[in-house]
Amino acid sequence: MKAVRIHQYGGPEVLSLEDVQRPTPGPDEVLIKVHAASVNPFDWKVRQGYLQQFLPMTLPLTLGWDFSGTVEAVGAGVTQFKRGNEVYASQDVTKGGAYAEYTIAKESDVALKPKSLDHIHAAGIPVAGVTAWQALFHTANLRAGQRILIHAAAGGVGVFAVQFAKAKGAFVIGTASGKNQAFLRELGVDEAIDYEKARFEDVAHDVDVVLDTIGGEVQERSWKVLKKGGILVSITDPPNMEQAAKYGVRAAIHRGHPGAADLTEIAELVDSDRVKTVVDTVLPLAEARRAQELSAHGHVRGKIVLRVA
Ligand SMILES: NC(=O)c1ccc[n+]([C@@H]2O[C@H](COP(=O)([O-])OP(=O)(O)OC[C@H]3O[C@@H](n4cnc5c(N)ncnc54)[C@H](OP(=O)(O)O)[C@@H]3O)[C@@H](O)[C@H]2O)c1
Repeated sequence: MKAVRIHQYGGPEVLSLEDVQRPTPGPDEVLIKVHAASVNPFDWKVRQGYLQQFLPMTLPLTLGWDFSGTVEAVGAGVTQFKRGNEVYASQDVTKGGAYAEYTIAKESDVALKPKSLDHIHAAGIPVAGVTAWQALFHTANLRAGQRILIHAAAGGVGVFAVQFAKAKGAFVIGTASGKNQAFLRELGVDEAIDYEKARFEDVAHDVDVVLDTIGGEVQERSWKVLKKGGILVSITDPPNMEQAAKYGVRAAIHRGHPGAADLTEIAELVDSDRVKTVVDTVLPLAEARRAQELSAHGHVRGKIVLRVA
């Protein structure tokens, strides 16, 4: 089968489209024929070697951590899926393997894909959607009526976070550049902030939850928008707990992990027309390099997806 692998860490040039052995599912694993794989910032961060100190991986490595496809075969002990099921999933963070014609996932990480979406749109959901879902509902415990500030609301995670928060009944403040202001309002953002024109901390106030998708100085400037007892959830830089204590707020880092139950709930929201996937760019598997370059540029609207089958 074809797969996009790296044999060493480095720039986009280390990505190589190769013929490799099709994997065989072990016990409790599912072999999936990949129709589409999504591209996340995590992918090029791994490729560059930025994460190797705390997330060692075995090279050569097939990149890609989420996909949509069809079950091809199941390993011993698999009871929930059979050949032909249309599924989507994110994969074990240390293994990946979605930039390929076939990939393996644990049965417990796989869910039936939304029926109303094609594979291209379904593939855009698992990593970004589950991260947004878990950060909002497992870590921040966002409730109806609360105010949430979502940084990078037009990005992969942000697009889902906005829609999930609106579906929950929260008041949503979102940041993006000028070109994405109308897009944010279409998505359902109640108050869109153009970071090129205003400092978000001059506009947002009394916020219950900040979803920090950027880190660094954006995180440092976020403390003051929170009300006492509020929470900042970062999916990038670990928050400074001393700063949190100084402002009388809580803080947490959220590291996303596969979540089949979350994917099933998301599929219901999608199929009931309450959440959509926004796909910015679709490229063939052979153009994974260009896809990662676009992602690393940092201004994708929604998702980049690789068409595999
Ligand atoms: N912890 C986890 O499990 C986890 C999971 C997924 C992602 N992440 C991390 O979370 C971060 C976001 O991921 P993602 O997939 O959403 O990224 P992404 O799709 O690449 O984000 C792109 C978006 O960022 C926006 N943006 C750039 N600079 C901004 C700024 N200063 N203020 C507001 N918006 C800004 C852009 O909007 P404009 O074009 O309008 O500037 C664009 O829409 C990445 O660092 C990723 O690695 C972590």
